[in-house]
Amino acid sequence: MSCVKVVGKKCIGGTVCAQGCKNSVLPIIAATLLNGGQNIIHNCPRLSDVYAAIDILRALGVNVVFSGNTLIINSEGINSDTIRPDLMKAMRSSVIFLGPMLSRLGEAVISMPGGCDIGKRPIDIHLMAFSKMGISVVCEDGNIRCIKDRLRGEKIFLPKPSVGATENIMLLACKGSGVTTIINAAREPEIIDLQNFLNSMGARIFGAGTSEITIYSVNKLDNSEYTVMPDRIEAATYCCAVAACGGYAEIKNIVPEHIESVLSILEKSGSSVVRYPSSVYISSGNVPQCVSYVSTGPYPAFPTDVQSIIMSVMSLSSGEGVIVENIFENRFGHAQQLKKMGADIRVSDKKAFIRGKKLYGAEVSACDLRSGAALIVAALGSCGETIISNCQYIDRGYEDFEDKFKSLGVDIERMD
Ligand code: UD1
Repeated sequence: MSCVKVVGKKCIGGTVCAQGCKNSVLPIIAATLLNGGQNIIHNCPRLSDVYAAIDILRALGVNVVFSGNTLIINSEGINSDTIRPDLMKAMRSSVIFLGPMLSRLGEAVISMPGGCDIGKRPIDIHLMAFSKMGISVVCEDGNIRCIKDRLRGEKIFLPKPSVGATENIMLLACKGSGVTTIINAAREPEIIDLQNFLNSMGARIFGAGTSEITIYSVNKLDNSEYTVMPDRIEAATYCCAVAACGGYAEIKNIVPEHIESVLSILEKSGSSVVRYPSSVYISSGNVPQCVSYVSTGPYPAFPTDVQSIIMSVMSLSSGEGVIVENIFENRFGHAQQLKKMGADIRVSDKKAFIRGKKLYGAEVSACDLRSGAALIVAALGSCGETIISNCQYIDRGYEDFEDKFKSLGVDIERMD
């Protein structure tokens, strides 16, 4: 177990550069299976989720070199169509390998994401789409076996604009399947990044960023070299850190438009934000005002991945507000931890009612990646010292987070 100690109530100030986007690079890594050749991926963040994806590739017989922030992947030697259960468990989004493995090998076996988790992160939409495209899907003994019988292009309507399902369909459909159209596709920037990567290999995909994506399949995909887009959730986290404790930060290497829903909420809470073409400058006073209403939704609405982090800002504010979580059930585990710091939060179904007040350092525990980030943000605006355990969750999504917070003047120390 990994812990950090954060000493709060000091204004922060400095510059940070956003890392490459975790949620983009994972499907891009999976996509490197498609061409059976060499792919060079720049701006790849060094995160435990990325290492988990590399472990999957290596277990499949793929050659991977990770040097600095560049990944060189040669998938020519792939020799297995099965992802071991321990590798599946290490990273929930390992399901994203299903489309590329099927496309390349004609068959793929993965284990179920497991027990109660499948209730919260189901993959029924992925499997429904695959079945419609002519894939046989058999679920047996905790495994999902998919076989590509007669892959065909189809018009696929998604009941929800699932990010992972949209990506998996693009990955499966881009080679040898006719024309596939995804209706009600996810519109997240990461979908555009995947389209750009696949098109850099020679795919012909149009419409990413809108709710209708058309994939004209090609017979062959080439080697590629690509730079991953910036991580909007990491950037939003540093903006929230400034709002929570006061001070300023320049966040470079980002696309400000990607975090507009977060920036506009922070402006309502009293921060001032200057948007430049590839950076933002944010400054805040000591105590934020509570925004009355935050509601998560598919892009471009407020991201569910920043919900826990904005809850920390609201808990430290003056005033009252409500958060509505519309994407995932039970994504309020962090509220219990914030209460240990003195937060006044009442959770009812998919709503959290927050009354802002002064918070105090305490011993708290991250229950997932974004709740860990939320606890750091809360600790920054609290009086005294906070010890946050289970920080290995934070390492899943934030590269060198202690050093980056230190570069903003934060008093933070890893206590492994
Ligand atoms: C991705 C992101 C995650 C983010 C989420 C929503 C990655 C690696 N992860 O997760 O950080 O929080 O998008 O922006 O990119 N659903 C189904 N059936 C399915 C698939 C999804 O019911 O087959 C539901 C989910 O339970 C959830 C909603 O659809 O309620 C959205 O999930 P989805 O967009 O698929 O999230 P992920 O791709 O898993």
